[in-house]
Formats: sequence, C-alpha cells, structure tokens
Amino acid sequence: MSGRSGWDGLLLALALVSSTGLLAKEIPLQQVHVLAGGDARLPCDVSSMESGDAAQLVLWYREDLGTPVYSMDARGGQLQRWSDQEVLDGRAHFWADRRPAELLIRRALASDAAVYRCRVDFRVAQTRNSRVNLTVIVPPTRLLIEDDAGHRFTSVAGPFSEGDTLHLRCIAFGGSPPPTVQWFREDEPLGTLGVVLPDGSAVRADVTLEGLQRADLNTRLTCQAANTELTAPIEDSVLVDMNLRPLDVRLLGVSQPLSAGRRYDLLCQSSGSRPPARITWWLNGQRQQHSKLTTSVDGNTTTSTLSFVPSKEDDGRFLACQAENPNVYTDVPEDGAKLTIHYAPEVTVSLGPSLDPTDIREGSDVYFDCRIKAQPQAFRVQWLHNVSALNVNDKSGVVLSNLSLVLQAVGRAARGNYTCVAFNAEGSGQSRPFPLDVLYYDICELLFFILSIIARCDGILPLKHLNRVLAKNTWNLEKRRADIRCEVDANPPAGAFRWAFNSSGGGDELAGSASISYTPHTDLDYGHLLCWAANRVGRQAAACVFHIVPAGRPDKVQNCTVGNVTAHALSLRCAEGFSGGLPQSFLLEVREDDSGELRANLSAGAPTFHVQQLRAGELHHLAVFAYNSKGRSEPVFLAVTTMAALERQLKAGHHGKAAPWALCH
Ligand SMILES: *[C@@H]1O[C@H](CO)[C@@H](O)[C@H](O)[C@H]1NC(C)=O
Ligand SMILES: *[C@@H]1O[C@H](CO)[C@@H](O)[C@H](O)[C@H]1NC(C)=O
Ligand SMILES: *[C@@H]1O[C@H](CO)[C@@H](O)[C@H](O)[C@H]1NC(C)=O
Ligand SMILES: *[C@@H]1O[C@H](CO)[C@@H](O)[C@H](O)[C@H]1NC(C)=O
Ligand SMILES: *[C@@H]1O[C@H](CO)[C@@H](O)[C@H](O)[C@H]1NC(C)=O
Ligand SMILES: *[C@@H]1O[C@H](CO)[C@@H](O)[C@H](O)[C@H]1NC(C)=O
Ligand SMILES: *[C@@H]1O[C@H](CO)[C@@H](O)[C@H](O)[C@H]1NC(C)=O
Ligand SMILES: *[C@@H]1O[C@H](CO)[C@@H](O)[C@H](O)[C@H]1NC(C)=O
Repeated sequence: MSGRSGWDGLLLALALVSSTGLLAKEIPLQQVHVLAGGDARLPCDVSSMESGDAAQLVLWYREDLGTPVYSMDARGGQLQRWSDQEVLDGRAHFWADRRPAELLIRRALASDAAVYRCRVDFRVAQTRNSRVNLTVIVPPTRLLIEDDAGHRFTSVAGPFSEGDTLHLRCIAFGGSPPPTVQWFREDEPLGTLGVVLPDGSAVRADVTLEGLQRADLNTRLTCQAANTELTAPIEDSVLVDMNLRPLDVRLLGVSQPLSAGRRYDLLCQSSGSRPPARITWWLNGQRQQHSKLTTSVDGNTTTSTLSFVPSKEDDGRFLACQAENPNVYTDVPEDGAKLTIHYAPEVTVSLGPSLDPTDIREGSDVYFDCRIKAQPQAFRVQWLHNVSALNVNDKSGVVLSNLSLVLQAVGRAARGNYTCVAFNAEGSGQSRPFPLDVLYYDICELLFFILSIIARCDGILPLKHLNRVLAKNTWNLEKRRADIRCEVDANPPAGAFRWAFNSSGGGDELAGSASISYTPHTDLDYGHLLCWAANRVGRQAAACVFHIVPAGRPDKVQNCTVGNVTAHALSLRCAEGFSGGLPQSFLLEVREDDSGELRANLSAGAPTFHVQQLRAGELHHLAVFAYNSKGRSEPVFLAVTTMAALERQLKAGHHGKAAPWALCH
C-alpha cells in the first residue's frame, strides 16, 4: 500500500502530546461496542488529503490513563510498533491498510472499556485526532427468581391459591453495563423495568399478579435480562402452579335401584381440583371405606370407585360423596342420592291379635296376618299349610283378605304350620311357620268289638278289622267280665270320663276312668254302654256307644280256595267269618264221593288245611265249619277231584282233565 511506504524513513519522536479535556470536546467521538472476549475494532482514519502525504506516526491513547498504549512509527524508515504490555498484553495490532484503518484488540476485556484517542502525524498534513468510546459489554451471568420470603423458584412457582396475589422478583447478576431486566407473561411484557440495586451488584425487576384465577394456572412468566443486542438475552421462566378447589362432584350409578347382596362399583367423579381431589364416601353420615381412586391423564378429573354391597337396611339411606382438596379451604362439594335397595320379601306371620293361640277351639274363626317387608312391593302372596299350598276357597271356609288369611270354623284338620310366602322381582321370602293348635274332642275314632260287646261311635267297622282290636278290650271268660276302654281322640287329651248304660230299662250316668269293667248278669244287662270323654275344652257331645250284645255261634267261613291239588293231596284256604263274639276254631271233613268214606277230619285254629293220603282220581266232598263254645256255624261245601295217578294220566292224554281248584259258593 502506498500508505505503508509513507511510513518509511520516519523517525520516532515520541511527543507526549497531552490530551486535554478542552481539546477532547472538539475531537469527533465514535462509539464502538464489543462483547467481552470478542475482537474490538477501533477505527482511526490515517488517510491524507495532500498528495504524496502519508501518516508517519500513529499513537493510541487511553484517555483515562492519559498515556499512549499503542504506537506505530514509520519515521525512521523502519516501521516500529509498540504496545503497553500491561494494558494490552500483546492483544492489539494496528491495521493501517484497512479502510478505515483500525486498532484490533483481540479477546476484549472489561478493563479495555475506555475512550481511546487516535493521533495521526502526517508528513505534510496536520496532525489529526479522533476518539473511540469502546464499550466492552459483559452480559449478565445469571438470574434468580424468588418470592418476597426469599423462596427461590426454578421452572415452577407456587403453588398459589385462587385469589392470591403473586409477587415475584427477578434478580439479574453480572452484566456490564447493567442489563435491562423485564418480566413477560407468555410473550407480553409485564410490569416495570428492573432497577439497579443500591450496591450496584445486580438489577431487580418485580412482577405482581393480583387475584390469581384458575385460568392463571401454568401461565409462563419469563424474566429476561439483556444489555446488548449482540447476543441473545438471558432468561428464566417459571410456570404458575396453583391449588384449585374441586369444581364439581357427581355420584354415578345409583339412580337405578340396587339389589341387596349384590356387589356394585359406584362411581364418584370430581373435576377441576389440583392436586387431584380426595374423594370420600358417606352413608347416612358414616364414612365408607373400600374405595379406589383413579385420576385422568390430565389430572383434572378424579374418579373414586366404591365397592358396595347394599343390604336391605340401606334402603332409603343417603349415600353421598365429597370431593376435597386438602390444600384448599373452601366448601366441600357433595353429591348424594337416596338409595333404593331391592330385596326379596321378609315375611312374618302372626295370629289375629284378638285370638289366644293356646285356646283355639274347633269351630272358631281364626285369622292370620302376613306382614311383608319388600322392595319392590310383593306382587303375589301365598299361604302354606304344613308344606303344601293352601287351597283358598269359600266352600272350604278359607278366605284371603288382603294380607290376612281367614279360616272359618276351623276343624282339627286345620292344625299344623301356617307359612306366608311373598314374591317380588328379587325373589321370594317365607315366614317362619306359625304352629296352629286346635282344641277338640268328641270323636271316638276306634270301634271296639269285644266278645259280645261292640263299640261303635261312627260308622260300621268292617269285620276284618275286628281281631286287631281284640287285644285292647278283653272279655274275661271265667268272670264273664268285659274290660272296656273308651278311647277318644281329643286335644288336649281327655281327662275325665262319664259312663252310662242305656238299655230298654233306661240308666244312670256315673263318673269313671277311661276303662271300666262290665259284667252283664241278666238279659237286661245287654244294651248300650255310653261313654263321654271330657277335656278342659269341654265334654264330647255325642257319646261313644258300646253295643253289648249276647254272644252266639260263629258265621260260616268265606272265600274258600282249593289249590295244590295232586293225586293224593290238596290244600284249602278260607277267610274267617264273624266269630260270634267268642274265640272260634275250624273243622274240615273230607268224604269220598264213591264210597261216602270219611277220608279226613281235621281241626285247626285258622281255616287253612292240608289234606293228604287221598285216593287218586277220586271226587271228594269237603265240608268246612267254624265253631265256638256256643256251637257250630253253617257248613261250606266244596267238591274236588284229585289228580289221576301218573300212569293213568299218561293213558288218558287230554281226557279226564281234573279241575285243579274250586271256589266256594
Ligand atoms: C462511552 O460509553 C459509555 C457506555 O456506552 C457511556 O456511558 C459513556 O458516557 C461514553 N462516553 C462518552 C464520552 O461518550
Ligand atoms: C377440568 O374440568 C372442568 C369441569 O369438567 C372443566 O371445566 C375444565 O375446563 C377442566 N380443566 C382442564 C384443565 O381440563
Ligand atoms: C312345623 O314347624 C316346626 C318348626 O319349624 C317343625 O319342627 C315341625 O316339624 C313343623 N310341622 C309340620 C307338620 O310341618
Ligand atoms: C291391603 O293392605 C294395605 C296395607 O295394609 C292397604 O293399604 C290396603 O288398603 C289394603 N287393601 C284392602 C283391599 O284391604
Ligand atoms: C298338618 O300337620 C298337622 C300336624 O302334624 C296335622 O295334624 C295336619 O293334619 C296336617 N295338615 C295338613 C293339611 O297337612
Ligand atoms: C239308648 O240308646 C239308644 C241308641 O243309641 C237311643 O236311641 C236311646 O234314645 C237311648 N236311651 C236313653 C234313655 O238314653
Ligand atoms: C271274599 O271275596 C270277595 C270277592 O273277591 C271279597 O270282596 C271279600 O272281601 C272276601 N271276603 C273275605 C272275608 O276275605
Ligand atoms: C299250595 O302249596 C304252597 C306251598 O306249600 C302254599 O304256599 C299254598 O298256600 C298252597 N295253596 C293253597 C290253595 O293252599
């Protein structure tokens, strides 16, 4: 460059030109900003208007030091550079051939900030001065966000409550010149610019948000500090955290009736709480356990599931759930419902209140009340007598009136257990059986026939039953005495008996026990012996009547059957007839038809005979008699042909077929 050659041959005459304040004011000033650590370029015009002129000496002063800190001298023909090691430490170099020429200070230090003066001496032209105000910018180093109490916040501030006033301050440390500190809400500037603290150590900016609302949750508040546009500002953000009350609470799943004994998952949902709401369950004011809490992904909705097995007692109770944020003191929202619990009927039976269960007599009217507790209402009611359904109809005197069962004029058959059964949609319920006792008397169930005594209260006893009761009422043959027992079915059992003898001659009543001994002496002593039993309910109306008649000969046997007929033997079986009132025996006479010879004469206690040693192929006449001490019965005759002898039978072939059996006539 031509400028460079212009330095040649210049001598260095270090003229200590003092820079005076007066002088400085007139010298043009250029502002240069550089980031600390960057390269500072301080311009200085070294060009001359004169032709052939050139700068011979360039001197850089720091005005605050008042001494040169750098020089470039071309006067001695040799270009010489010098720099103040203490100040610039070899970081400076003057580039004269740049346009404009500049003093380059590498790795600018904060201490490099100063007003520099550049003095240029020319060969021809006048010395020229120019000034550069070098500002070395040190960005702020760190920010601190805290509240009035000095709590530091990073990333999240709070939690605050609704209505709270948020007051935060941002302190920026470091930075030269002092940075501008400002708050932003999202991207909107907020509040006032920061002020430098009295000790100058930092800059502080405050932000205030009054009456925080739900909408302020997660608002981003950013504090920015910057002192240059050469680099991005430093900033720090916090999100506003808040404790929020639950907005609502909803109880789900109880609008429908529940069935007792079944397990239900009932839900209670609340939203709007932060942190998630705590949900509690209450049944008629009693805290319910066994609930599970789940929270939606966004944390806004909390659902509590109560595992609930309702019982019928819960019907009509009030189930409520409450959503609570333990960090917020406000009214706790609650939702609840009156429960409708369905259950199978609960049934109880009671006897009509005017009735004495220990004194229900035959003929009285009885009624029962069925009390039903059921949800929903029972749609059907049924009555059981013992274990079977009660037949309700007017004819039988059983009437249903609403929930009452009326038994008109009960008989002894009405005794037993009464149960009421009710049905509803949940099932059926059955009461405990009510045992109904009916007091009665007056029927002699047993009819006795003893020797010549017939007891008959009701109807005629078939003959075949007679022997079965013999043992009960006995006739003492020696003493000609009858032991008669009056057996009466009564409830409670009969305790007193009255007896009377009723013959054509009339008779008197006399008290006695259930058994009496009776000895007829004359014909007048045959007749009717009457017995009346009594219990505490009363005395039987119609007497048991024992007919006392003289004993006689037995009747003839009946239904005789002949079997097992072989060539030489046969069997005979008959049914006994009426014995005439005395022990009877039986007699069988067997005669051969041809000869009229008596082949067998058998006697037995029962009309069953086995006859042997008969002649083969012969017709026999059989006569059967019954006899007792009064004499013999009419005979029963049968005719039987024994089988032909084996050899004759073979000869005879199909002819001469003998009847193997015969019936009596
Ligand atoms: C130099 O710059 C600094 C910072 O920019 C400023 O404070 C100072 O007043 C300036 N000096 C002059 C003389 O302009
Ligand atoms: C939380 O739930 C409430 C009620 O459903 C709703 O109004 C609100 O917007 C929800 N908030 C969030 C953050 O989802
Ligand atoms: C009546 O009920 C009682 C008690 O449940 C029971 O012991 C009895 O056997 C029942 N009687 C009848 C005839 O069912
Ligand atoms: C049946 O009983 C119910 C309950 O006691 C009562 O409300 C109703 O009026 C009764 N109906 C009749 C027909 O008696
Ligand atoms: C019910 O049981 C009682 C007691 O065992 C009995 O006397 C009555 O005859 C029974 N009635 C019916 C209808 O089963
Ligand atoms: C004797 O008994 C008979 C038959 O039961 C009856 O008809 C008659 O009236 C009775 N006489 C007396 C006096 O009881
Ligand atoms: C005799 O037989 C007839 C008809 O088979 C029967 O009805 C009757 O009961 C019988 N008599 C006896 C005493 O077995
Ligand atoms: C025939 O003989 C058998 C066996 O001895 C006997 O059980 C049966 O009663 C006899 N039949 C008659 C009608 O006697």
